[in-house]
Amino acid sequence: MRIELTGRCPLRRRELRVEPVDRGRLVLDARELTFACPLELTAIVTLARSAGDRKTVLITPRDGGVMSYLERMNVLSLLPEGAVIDGELPFGDRKNLSDRLLEVVHLAGQDEADDVVLRLGRMIRTHFSPELRGLVFQAVGELIDNAISHGTGPLGAFAAAQFYTGRTSGRQGLEFAVCDTGVGVLTHLSRNVRHRDLDTAEAALLRALEKGATGTEEERGNGLADLWRVTRHGGVTRLVLRSGDAVASVVANRDERRCSGLTVETRVCGTWAWLRVTSPH
Ligand SMILES: Nc1ncnc2c1ncn2[C@@H]1O[C@H](COP(=O)(O)OP(=O)(O)O)[C@@H](O)[C@H]1O
Ligand SMILES: [Mg+2]
Repeated sequence: MRIELTGRCPLRRRELRVEPVDRGRLVLDARELTFACPLELTAIVTLARSAGDRKTVLITPRDGGVMSYLERMNVLSLLPEGAVIDGELPFGDRKNLSDRLLEVVHLAGQDEADDVVLRLGRMIRTHFSPELRGLVFQAVGELIDNAISHGTGPLGAFAAAQFYTGRTSGRQGLEFAVCDTGVGVLTHLSRNVRHRDLDTAEAALLRALEKGATGTEEERGNGLADLWRVTRHGGVTRLVLRSGDAVASVVANRDERRCSGLTVETRVCGTWAWLRVTSPH
């Protein structure tokens, strides 16, 4: 399988560009990648790790800046053993930018998740107003919790984040991504008899966003539905969820929430979540 990563943030597009060739290998062709956000970083590692024995080939971006960024964010060091990196390797300084960057981390269990939550907490405290901090923290924590409790899989999950000041990228706010290698939303949600009617991943993603929908037997299911509280103090939130062969996208601000789902050609294993929260001025 060959996945083309071209242009800006290609994995946020609904349809992934995939060709079913390459003799059982997974080829991640990032030659034309011009901007990678936390979702590309996290998903590249997750796809490569999930490819198992199939050999992964990462064709590196022509753009030296993007290439250095992949290296800086630990994407290269987290590729599985035996993965081939096709292209030039950068040698860059490693400034400590922990107030703005969370390099890709492997959430193999609760300890790693706790550590990431701590680091994100510091980042959020630095960039968000006191009234927003708790809500942003809760939103990010919810996605991590879902990935490690509902999306548990033998390979765990991967997460990354960046706070953009907006000065160079033109976009301002916190972006966070977590990709897990678990059963996916349809399978998990259908464990609860109330959601046995679901028969597509698209319907399951939209249901999971509703208040009270849970695949567990407990009285819960408000995690995703409560994410939007983060817009109470202004700012815009965008969430993209991908699971199986479906993508759901939600854009919310204080007054409005628009939600859409789509069934796509390419299915992914597990669940991918990407969230952006802007901080209002
Ligand atoms: N990463 C994931 N992997 C599998 N299923 C998930 C994932 N995230 C969410 N879900 C499904 O969506 C449901 C709703 O999630 P959420 O609103 O956070 O409620 P809760 O976590 O309290 O059940 C979950 O119970 C689960 O069935
Ligand atoms: Mg939850």
